[in-house]
Amino acid sequence: MIELQELRKEFAGSTALAGISLSVAEGEIHGIVGRSGAGKSTLIRCLTGLESATSGHARIDGVDITALSGARLRASRRSIGMVFQHANLLDSRTALENVEHPLQVAGVPRAARRARALELLELVGLTDRAGNHPAQLSGGQQQRVGIARALASEPKILLCDEPTSALDTQTTGQILSLIASLRDRLGITVLIITHEMSVVREICDSATLLEHGRVTQTGMLGEILADPSSPLARDLVPLPRASDDPHRRTLEVALAGTPLGTVFDIAESTGTPISAVESGTLETIDGTQVGRLRLVCADTLQRERLSTALRARGIHVEEAA
Ligand SMILES: Nc1ncnc2c1ncn2[C@@H]1O[C@H](COP(=O)(O)OP(=O)(O)OP(=O)(O)O)[C@@H](O)[C@H]1O
Ligand SMILES: [Mg+2]
Repeated sequence: MIELQELRKEFAGSTALAGISLSVAEGEIHGIVGRSGAGKSTLIRCLTGLESATSGHARIDGVDITALSGARLRASRRSIGMVFQHANLLDSRTALENVEHPLQVAGVPRAARRARALELLELVGLTDRAGNHPAQLSGGQQQRVGIARALASEPKILLCDEPTSALDTQTTGQILSLIASLRDRLGITVLIITHEMSVVREICDSATLLEHGRVTQTGMLGEILADPSSPLARDLVPLPRASDDPHRRTLEVALAGTPLGTVFDIAESTGTPISAVESGTLETIDGTQVGRLRLVCADTLQRERLSTALRARGIHVEEAA
């Protein structure tokens, strides 16, 4: 389990982390999102001890990384696997040798490290590529070798900094399913930094939004989606495209667990039928049907009445300007 407590990091003249507190339970996949410069990579670097925090605590299974140095820090780093945007494999070595490398550095005997590396390649589905060099592998395959390498020391947590940003949509899907299945099979805790909300939608159990080095929202995906007005919910379930609505007839509705049919039923029963659904998104995330839709009413008056009726039933409504 990962626990950050008032974690601060100041660089000369700037504050990268302004007191971050958050916790991620064992076996959870937690997404960290935020704009460029929000402090995401700094957070991961402090968690691995690659960067020393200015103040605060970063605990992994109760061990405070910020209090360690030297050999003890190196030892605790072995419980952390790291995956980056690019796998950065050693070009002169085969896939198998790349996975073996950290074990070799740690002094594991040849036969044992080879057996372990083969197991790991099997785990990421690359047994048949063991003898290939990085140049002979696709970006997605290289990333899988990178993940196998990160798992070599049997870490309890996996920190991923933009692991799929350099990959196409299909390969991204494969890498995400791999990460999810590794969590299921090995029980590891995963922290995944991403600028892609689709990554959060697809595999995260919980997420945190960082802004200017602060946590502005954090929670389980279900909780986040239950409040459609929250910033993360807005990003997870984006608004339909902007409407040109000179007659002020459209209404934006956010659904979090309420079926679309209920909206139509409410409209019918209040005598304010919906003329059309202009645009919108509707999908199931983490078992809950969520969506954001732009509805068209007959006129402004009808819109007001429908808006009132929907709000009375606890449905989140925003009137277009
Ligand atoms: N070594 C450093 N020295 C000085 N300032 C730094 C250093 N590393 C990061 N910063 C600053 O800290 C802030 C947070 O940087 P960080 O790399 O953590 O952002 P990020 O959220 O990972 O951004 P991106 O999405 O672009 O990767 C930025 O303002 C950055 O300029
Ligand atoms: Mg970064």
